[in-house]
Amino acid sequence: MASGVGGGSGEEAVKNKQVIFRDYVSGLPKESDMEVSTTTVKLKLPEGSNGVMVKNLYLSIDPYMRIRMKRIEGPNAFSSFTPASEVVSNKQVIFRDYFDGFPKESDMYLTTSTIKLKVPEGSNAVIVKNLYLSCDPVMRIRMRRVTVVGFTSYTPGSPLTGYAVAKVLDSGHPDFKAGDLVWGPSGWEEYSLITATESLHKIQHTDVPLSYYTGLLGMPGMTAYAGFYEVCSPKKGEYVFISAASGAVGQLVGQFAKMLGCYVVGSAGSKEKVDLLKNKFGFDNAFNYKEEHDLDAALKRYFPEGIDIYFENVGGKTLDAVLLNMRVHGRIAVCGMISQYNLDPPEGVKNLMCLVYKRIHMIGFIVRDYVHLYTKFLDTVLPYIKEGKIVYVEDIAEGLESAPAALVGLFSGRNVGKQVVLVARE
Ligand SMILES: NC(=O)c1ccc[n+]([C@@H]2O[C@H](COP(=O)([O-])OP(=O)(O)OC[C@H]3O[C@@H](n4cnc5c(N)ncnc54)[C@H](OP(=O)(O)O)[C@@H]3O)[C@@H](O)[C@H]2O)c1
Repeated sequence: MASGVGGGSGEEAVKNKQVIFRDYVSGLPKESDMEVSTTTVKLKLPEGSNGVMVKNLYLSIDPYMRIRMKRIEGPNAFSSFTPASEVVSNKQVIFRDYFDGFPKESDMYLTTSTIKLKVPEGSNAVIVKNLYLSCDPVMRIRMRRVTVVGFTSYTPGSPLTGYAVAKVLDSGHPDFKAGDLVWGPSGWEEYSLITATESLHKIQHTDVPLSYYTGLLGMPGMTAYAGFYEVCSPKKGEYVFISAASGAVGQLVGQFAKMLGCYVVGSAGSKEKVDLLKNKFGFDNAFNYKEEHDLDAALKRYFPEGIDIYFENVGGKTLDAVLLNMRVHGRIAVCGMISQYNLDPPEGVKNLMCLVYKRIHMIGFIVRDYVHLYTKFLDTVLPYIKEGKIVYVEDIAEGLESAPAALVGLFSGRNVGKQVVLVARE
């Protein structure tokens, strides 16, 4: 069964036995022209839908159904049934159920269902072939029964959803046509029916790697851009610290800060990542936080005069140590706190009084509040990429089968750079 992307429900999916029409029939219909199969269905309508969801009690058997088993073309009182021969198989990564603690590969499983590669008549949805999927830390938050405003929980028994780069195969929407490349929210599956088309971006620039639209030119890139320029109010010469600095967001924040003439230090979880920060992304310095028993002392070593801007990606002990090292009138852009996503309850922060003593602005932000800046962002960043002023490191896992492991790996730092899953080449 096709999974619609758009609108979350939090309702669990149930098994759904169906009688499938095999193919167009000539002569007398036979039982073998149909087959019984089982898929899953959510018992809740997508948000904004004006349909109804029913449990069928009795089915009527009518002679005219035989007419619909023929191929009917053009305007007609009857339309043909869709034969199974017109649907394709669709590999999917299914979310198993809500859980506590760290995510495991077994919290997801692979299954194969079917999908018709045509949008329903009258709908303004699009059908896409997914090419690249983005692994994002926020997906862990959606694996909980979410009560946070603005986030929806995944539905157990349904495919995960997240950002993707995809190719439009069929469209009922005037802004998209077959062959268009798009990025935006899609399903963790080979093909998706996307109803939330308002969140899709048509890809106009294809002279850069397409996978960049999951990272550098997609949501994480916009996060780095909006978070640094809009939230941090940066000035030339300021002292900038970035945690999870080699990741999808962090590596860009550091490069933006260097271009502005700031002094930039990043923390990351391995020697390989520290080398990348210093030698590839041009940070002034970097350290492996896992080797520092006293984070406060480490920050004092790298910032003897204190930190003006902290780009917060991890939270917990790092935030506590940073607070002690902030300068008066410093800014903390709270982008995320990945060290807390698997903890119940989250750790406390002890040094918040520093906000008062040092008159620090600590501001949380969400990238979706800045989508209006996307064109400006592209106009700024595309030339930087072409001139080699910005570089980007990706970690590409091959095949939908590798997606669960790739997602889980974010929480132990297995990814080096932006974690992407390659589902299909165009
Ligand atoms: N506000 C928004 O709109 C928005 C948008 C996108 C992302 N975010 C947030 O931005 C942050 C970075 O996201 P990203 O996409 O760039 O991810 P990422 O950095 O590419 O991947 C996550 C990295 O976090 C580090 N990490 C994992 N567990 C950690 C822990 N317990 N303590 C310290 N570091 C840990 C790991 O790197 P190490 O090897 O260095 O430990 C891992 O590679 C996340 O908090 C995410 O939720 C926010």
